[in-house]
Amino acid sequence: MLINKPKKSRHAKLITSSYELYQYEAIDFLKLVPTESIDLVITDPPYESLEKHRAVGTTTRLKNSKASSNTWFKIFPNYLFPELLHEIYRILKKNSHFYLFCDQETAFIIKPEAEDAGFKFWKPLIWDKKKIGMGYHYRARYEFILFFEKGKRKLNNLAIPDILEYPRIHRGYPTEKPAELSETLIQQSSSKNELICDPFMGSCSVGIATIRQNRRFLGADISREAFNISKKRIQSLKS
Ligand SMILES: C[S@@+](CC[C@H](N)C(=O)[O-])C[C@H]1O[C@@H](n2cnc3c(N)ncnc32)[C@H](O)[C@@H]1O
Repeated sequence: MLINKPKKSRHAKLITSSYELYQYEAIDFLKLVPTESIDLVITDPPYESLEKHRAVGTTTRLKNSKASSNTWFKIFPNYLFPELLHEIYRILKKNSHFYLFCDQETAFIIKPEAEDAGFKFWKPLIWDKKKIGMGYHYRARYEFILFFEKGKRKLNNLAIPDILEYPRIHRGYPTEKPAELSETLIQQSSSKNELICDPFMGSCSVGIATIRQNRRFLGADISREAFNISKKRIQSLKS
């Protein structure tokens, strides 16, 4: 087991030698992860401003979520970010990278808080979804991926640009990210067999990318449905 044994074992889990998935609340889960045991964190929290996009219909796939009995997943409140970022910093090994998906509003909140936790902020990468989406003030075609560093770690390929072009996913999990996008981040910021963590795994796109790239994955999500989708997806990968 890659985490310290939880006191109560009512949480669903799936443990193999190359990945461990848990149904768990992110901060409670990270508290079980040993200090400096993780090589890379890539995560996509359900930040508060997503609710605004949903209210005006500017985010795709927000109305019906296969992953929830209500129509949307639980939002992670902004006031919890300092604790979350502190835990992510603690679990990462000394020279490592951290990527966080978010919109422009949340980027301004996260950047100073992540710096307070100890990270160096490099820049926002742009995920270019290649086709325009909804919106009124210039239609949405990109998302930010905030790129942070703990200590110093060299990117594996210095020729990769800061705009990453991968088509958006249609009819997937709400706000599902293409696994190929995470594969690029993984290739850039980790080596074979290293351990990658996503505490808001959703449909496990980071986990799928991790296994395809021959690394190990540690993932969690608060929702049982997300856990079940992740389990099915990761088990269907050819070994
Ligand atoms: C934006 S989605 C992640 C989508 C994922 N990147 C993908 O490609 O499928 C955020 C996920 O966080 C989960 N979540 C919400 N609050 C949480 C919490 N406090 N702890 C852990 N997971 C949480 C939701 O159930 C949802 O699956």
